[in-house]
Amino acid sequence: MTRLRDTLPAAMLFLVAATMMLVLANSKAQSKQEKRPFGKTQDGQPADLYILTNNAGFEVAITNYGGTVVSLKAPDRNGKMADLILGYDSVTGYENGKAYFGGTIGRYGNRIAHGKFAMNGATYTLAKNDGENHLHGGLIGFNKRVWNAKDVSSIAGQAVELCYLSKDGEEGYPGNLSAKVVFTVLADSNALKIEYRATTDKETIVNLTNHAYFNLAGQGNGNILGHQLTLHAGKFTPVDAALIPTGELRSVRNTPLDFLKPLAIGHRIAQDNEQLIFGKGYDHNWVLDRTSAEALSLAAEAYDPQSGRILKVSTTEPGIQFYSGNFLDGTIHGKDGKIYPHRSAFCLETQHFPDSPNHPNFLSTVLKPGQHYRSTTVYEFSTR
Ligand code: GLA
Repeated sequence: MTRLRDTLPAAMLFLVAATMMLVLANSKAQSKQEKRPFGKTQDGQPADLYILTNNAGFEVAITNYGGTVVSLKAPDRNGKMADLILGYDSVTGYENGKAYFGGTIGRYGNRIAHGKFAMNGATYTLAKNDGENHLHGGLIGFNKRVWNAKDVSSIAGQAVELCYLSKDGEEGYPGNLSAKVVFTVLADSNALKIEYRATTDKETIVNLTNHAYFNLAGQGNGNILGHQLTLHAGKFTPVDAALIPTGELRSVRNTPLDFLKPLAIGHRIAQDNEQLIFGKGYDHNWVLDRTSAEALSLAAEAYDPQSGRILKVSTTEPGIQFYSGNFLDGTIHGKDGKIYPHRSAFCLETQHFPDSPNHPNFLSTVLKPGQHYRSTTVYEFSTR
């Protein structure tokens, strides 16, 4: 008894100390979700910023304006954090912007030739916002709409769900489309998972993606020409001068579009190649070598030798648009006073192929009432 009375205070002291140490260790970075005001749209709608963090301190900020990824902070090989996404400081930048920074793209990502397609014998005419063609959902795409947001965090990670009802006839598309996008910062890896879901009350077409611009050295920190890229794709869809697919699925062999093995983005970007001239660099859809139409497959890897950061993109989609930031020209004033010079970021937009509704040999993008549109993409960050 005497012995127990003597050792009890010491044991309790130990317990208190151990608990305090645990709390301290966790307070360094703790999985959490924070909500902050992000400004108001010109017509007075408030937007919020949802900041999702995992235990390792990996942090992604999403706004319900446009379903937009505003920032993404990940460590370099020495543990130094940087924001790897181009964007603006408030909703006003996104409202005025034309580059689709980080936005959710819909109802149809990429181009539809002449803004026209036929379905069930009827012809539909969409808004033309890219010369003669329809691009990224039209004049006011999903990236310019205010979405309803809800915290849906679970054991899998901190998550926010965004919902948007795209009305019958919006930008020319048939059917009321109920779209839902869930952004999750995974608890057990430095990864952002994006899950897209949609249903419709009339037959329509859907092709949702995210238009995040990445620079693995940090936003506004030089160009991405030295980043090494791998695309797990043996074919691509060649385009005409207006970047509309010809319908051909062409082998990447012996072309500057071959990224089957890691190669610097800048290595062949200036080659005298018709496709690179049309795209003003890389702005093409690759046909992914995937093994399943349902499971996630590794689509792309990017590596920045300077910071050591690696981005791996896995998706359930059959295609990926690799865009080398060719339209960036140093005129945009982005976050934290940064400017974004030519090719200072790249996009990897997972998708069905551009202009699919006009190419019967491409996988269908039709969604019928009663069907569930599902698409998932994971962006995972690591270092070496
Ligand atoms: C996509 C398109 C490009 C361009 C960018 C945004 O990647 O394919 O042509 O529109 O978006 O500027």
